[in-house]
Amino acid sequence: MRIYQESDYQEMSRRAAGIIAAELVRKPECVLGLATGSTPVGTYKLLVEGNRRGDFSFKKVTTVNLDEYKGLAPDHEQSYRFFMQDNLFNSIDVVPERTNVPDGLAQNAEAECARYDALVESLGYADLQLLGLGRNGHIGFNEPGESFVKPTHVVDLTESTIEANARFFASPDEVPRQALTMGVGVIMAARRVLLIASGEDKSEALYQAVCGPITPQCPASILQLHRDVVIVADTAALEKVAAAGVSVCG
Ligand code: F6R
Repeated sequence: MRIYQESDYQEMSRRAAGIIAAELVRKPECVLGLATGSTPVGTYKLLVEGNRRGDFSFKKVTTVNLDEYKGLAPDHEQSYRFFMQDNLFNSIDVVPERTNVPDGLAQNAEAECARYDALVESLGYADLQLLGLGRNGHIGFNEPGESFVKPTHVVDLTESTIEANARFFASPDEVPRQALTMGVGVIMAARRVLLIASGEDKSEALYQAVCGPITPQCPASILQLHRDVVIVADTAALEKVAAAGVSVCG
């Protein structure tokens, strides 16, 4: 596990975008695993700028997103498909047919999860999987629980996640209660994982993920068993990790 400490959100975004850009240069036909939420917005902005400058291209890239709310249409403003179109896909040279997000409207959500797993497997899994971190230690929408769930599955969102995501909806009642998420097995099958975190409210989750026991109570803790994880976080998010004496770069 390599940890980069950056001074603030902007620098975290710059470092993360630099790592993704390097992957695009190294392997132009790579499979990129992507995340939504507030943390990657700055990273995506920098990737759009770099793509416009011609520093790298997404023309041969295939993308696989981590998750989608169950019941939200792709054109719903809070759906993760909409988020990806708005923050990245509409502004880069990616081939639309090679962007993949689970279908939140699928009649049979379990069948959609199986289809998504088969798709990601057929692509050979992500070369680089970008992850945000939930305040409760979730990755994708793998919430704290009794066991690590390997495949893509339908999940009941916890109250803490509903509360954290309510800021994007007109009222907490509108936040979907379920989502389709890549399981931790699919995430762990990625060749490299890039986890980004910013702000004091991620400090405890990041500490548990890096220094705590490997337990489904903190789903991100399973990353301790992955052989190629890069964490890019700002000073506020790394406060507890740094206080524990874990060595960081940058
Ligand atoms: C999003 C996702 C979630 C978020 C996490 C952090 O696709 O899978 O795990 O990464 O909830 O969200 P933010 O970045 O909004 O704090």
